[in-house]
Amino acid sequence: MTDHQNAPNSLSDEPAPPPGRPKAEQPPRGAASPQQRGQRGGPRTPPGRPKAEQPPQGAASPQQRGQRGGSHFIGLMSGTSVDGVDGVLARLQDGQPPQVLASVSLPMPAALRTELLALNQAGQDELARAALAANELARLYAQAVTGLLGQSGLPAGDIAAIGAHGQTVRHRPDSGYTLQLNAPALLAELTGIDVVADFRSRDVAAGGQGAPLVPPFHAAIFGAPQGRAVLNLGGIANVTLLTPSQPPRGFDTGPANVFLDAWCQRHLGQAFDMDGRWAATGQVLAPLLEQLIASEPWFALPPPKSTGRDLFNMRWLDDRLAAYDGPAPAPQDVQATLQRLTARTVANAIDAAAAGTREVYVCGGGARNAGLMRELAYCLQRPVHATDALGVPAQQVEALAFAWLAQAFLARRPAGVPAVTGARGPRVLGALYPA
Ligand SMILES: Nc1ncnc2c1ncn2[C@@H]1O[C@H](COP(=O)(O)OP(=O)(O)OP(=O)(O)O)[C@@H](O)[C@H]1O
Ligand SMILES: [Mg+2]
Repeated sequence: MTDHQNAPNSLSDEPAPPPGRPKAEQPPRGAASPQQRGQRGGPRTPPGRPKAEQPPQGAASPQQRGQRGGSHFIGLMSGTSVDGVDGVLARLQDGQPPQVLASVSLPMPAALRTELLALNQAGQDELARAALAANELARLYAQAVTGLLGQSGLPAGDIAAIGAHGQTVRHRPDSGYTLQLNAPALLAELTGIDVVADFRSRDVAAGGQGAPLVPPFHAAIFGAPQGRAVLNLGGIANVTLLTPSQPPRGFDTGPANVFLDAWCQRHLGQAFDMDGRWAATGQVLAPLLEQLIASEPWFALPPPKSTGRDLFNMRWLDDRLAAYDGPAPAPQDVQATLQRLTARTVANAIDAAAAGTREVYVCGGGARNAGLMRELAYCLQRPVHATDALGVPAQQVEALAFAWLAQAFLARRPAGVPAVTGARGPRVLGALYPA
């Protein structure tokens, strides 16, 4: 489905791109540059704005924010694990490493988690339920912001913008859409801070995967004089390949924690396998591992590629376990095999795309799983460390990336990397919800 390419573009004075637009990275002829648009745009705030729309006390006007230089940003991430919200407040200044001034991790309330997971599939009255869940998520985001401001001692008016990822409930770039539930208008209202949201859609509209978006950020903060990979282990695993003096590459490699969590929940009633201890009691079943990899063509696809719960969900696993022709596996052996599946598919992907990788730095919750880290070192045959060793705690990296992406948006700096996502060109990513 490519109807996004043909939709009337009545809100913009740019012509809609014709279907099958060639790969040219230039904007269509006659389109205004961002500078031109700014010049002819005129005032953006209509006169007579009603009182109810005033930002809360302590919030800065856009002019004040501009004058301050706006180097404080908040990033909020809630990923495919649906375990919680990670937030950071950071000072981002050109040419300097980011300075994290505060960080929070709020657990996802059980009812909201259940609803967000349910909304990953089609269901009864899903539009209304999605809108309500998005509002709940925005309230949780606002709590994270309150925590960050309290920790840092900064007022809301000192924050240039919040980058709020939202919760992915569908990721179908090949059908022309990706959907992150979010209520950025409510978040702006609750915090009095400008919110940048919906980071993925524009890249998808330009023919890209809309994911992963973190490689340019990883390159900016973790670039190295030798082949290095940065691996994020959330629900899904994504890798950034950093090669000296080349633009970053990156793609999803498949499941990271999504099966480890779900299998553990089903058999132990626990949200995740703490430090991989349960997996350590089982044996890797080589024929099952082989079958899991061989039965899924997605693993063998070349980049650019991205994925999500749309593909890697419990139906995927249950179908394969039902088709497994070995003896009925013990649950702990399945857990051990799923842990090896994550490590093996990461290693296969890195070996295929960047055999010269010398070292791998891991971020995301998976970096805290000692068993998974051992599996990675075994499969990768290279040094594997958490990004803490590079000065950024593993749990903060993705949230920091969305602070960085919000800054890129405010500067109207294209943050999409066509070599990563397959988009027709670099695009400015995000949409602004002013306070
Ligand atoms: N001590 C631990 N032992 C085992 N697993 C852990 C531990 N701590 C965290 N995890 C795993 O990390 C997951 C959360 O990671 P994270 O928050 O990075 O994922 P995410 O929300 O999917 O993020 P994203 O989509 O941005 O990558 C948990 O669901 C769990 O599987
Ligand atoms: Mg998380």
